[in-house]
Amino acid sequence: MKIEMKGIYKSFGANEVLKDVGFSVAGGEICALLGENGAGKSTLMNILGGILPADRGEIFVDGERAVFNQPSESLGRGIAFIHQELNLINDLPVYENMFVGREPRKRFGIIDHAFMIRETARIFAEMDMELDPRVMVRGLDASYKQIVEIARAMMMNASVIIMDEPTSSLTEPEIARVFAMIRILASRGVGIVFISHKLREVIDLCTRYVVLRDGSTVSSGNIADVTTETLARLMVGHDVRTESLQRGRALPRSVLRAVALSDARNFRGIDFDVRAGEVLGVTGLLGDGRSELFMSIFGAGGGYSGQVYVEDVPVKLTGTTQALEYGIAYLPRNRKENGILKDMDILENGSIAIWPLITKCGFIDGSRQRYLFAAQVKRLRIKLDRESDPITSLSGGNQQKVMLSRWLSGNPKALILDNPTQGVDVGAKEEIYDIIMSLADEGVAVVVLSSEAQEIIRVCDRALVMYHGSVAGCVEGEDMNEHGIMRLATGAASQREV
Ligand SMILES: Nc1ncnc2c1ncn2[C@@H]1O[C@H](COP(=O)(O)OP(=O)(O)OP(=O)(O)O)[C@@H](O)[C@H]1O
Ligand SMILES: [Mg+2]
Repeated sequence: MKIEMKGIYKSFGANEVLKDVGFSVAGGEICALLGENGAGKSTLMNILGGILPADRGEIFVDGERAVFNQPSESLGRGIAFIHQELNLINDLPVYENMFVGREPRKRFGIIDHAFMIRETARIFAEMDMELDPRVMVRGLDASYKQIVEIARAMMMNASVIIMDEPTSSLTEPEIARVFAMIRILASRGVGIVFISHKLREVIDLCTRYVVLRDGSTVSSGNIADVTTETLARLMVGHDVRTESLQRGRALPRSVLRAVALSDARNFRGIDFDVRAGEVLGVTGLLGDGRSELFMSIFGAGGGYSGQVYVEDVPVKLTGTTQALEYGIAYLPRNRKENGILKDMDILENGSIAIWPLITKCGFIDGSRQRYLFAAQVKRLRIKLDRESDPITSLSGGNQQKVMLSRWLSGNPKALILDNPTQGVDVGAKEEIYDIIMSLADEGVAVVVLSSEAQEIIRVCDRALVMYHGSVAGCVEGEDMNEHGIMRLATGAASQREV
């Protein structure tokens, strides 16, 4: 099967998002669709998926003109879509989510639950996934939700599968599994559209690429002919640096210190000390406990034993307002799910964390709020039309930047960033790294939680590597390389020493 889009135009109000864009994908091909945040990738695929109408342009399926007014029409022609934002129903078990809208029936119209459970188990087994089809979606971690979405598309026997940033919340072993599945599908003749900001993944997986910039196709070709550097340059229009940014400064003053932190389930015996002007990385694989650890420290997770100190004062934080008083800011991971407030506009989303700081006599100081937010929009180069637009009108990556801006206005002493560059493009990644560096230069203690070894190496002065809830080791200087991190993260180092 071959799908072609020709001369596609799309505007939102005065914002011309797609201008005469052409795109094609054929069976057996894994085609990367690349571009900066807001370039129009999701919009183009929403048009192919029947979610948005194009203003102009045509779609051809095997040379025949097709019109998709609804997602079901696109799906009817074999095009399955895995969206950037998760699309599962929390109050249904996994197996029912796999069949929403296409429930198999037995005689007398009775839904065949046993069949659904069996089929779901079969596809999970094929994906090498250990997950009970009967668990409720609500209880799943975001990475498992993502895997369920991927499994669902695979089950639909689609001829073309569109994946909009499918790996942004997955860790390396899961990504490897998903990639293995994608390769199998491609070898069976399924065409894949793969949208990702992780260019190494793109080089690893894809066969062809198409780059959008400012709503136009600027380049396309075979992956075999390019490197990550070339792709980055094509996306942003200039070279992107990738060397390590460590600086090695004198670090006298402890800002955030933990002694013997343990909770009942996720982490044990954690000690660390982040000093003013230092960037401390914390990394590991799924189940390492790093996110739970910092949620607990911030007062947004479960209780713990042990002691946390902020500038040598013992504290037990209970949430946002109090943390802000101590100068601690915390950007949670999976912001798609637990950061973005969909009913609020861009300005509110970007400043809610600092409301306690800008409230006078019970009223928010509106002009100060706008002034502080405008500074962050400029600093992070957030691409928006009007501050009063709904947050959902921004591209995925720009929503992430707004989440980050929420904390920067509070001028924190310590900044905890969980997966800070999730979903942001290579150019914006560099901007965020620059911001981390300049905050550190100003004396802020920064903690970066990330599962990307490259990111840790690039921005951190040193990094703790966690394995199943304990610190397996600390890497710094020469030892801070992918091999050293992986060895600790997989438990290989400790097993040998025992
Ligand atoms: N529903 C909408 N209403 C108004 N503007 C929108 C809407 N959806 C998208 N846009 C705008 O269209 C542009 C392209 O957005 P799109 O989501 O296609 O970008 P993207 O390439 O997928 O970016 P990202 O990598 O950040 O996901 C952005 O400027 C965005 O603000
Ligand atoms: Mg997008």
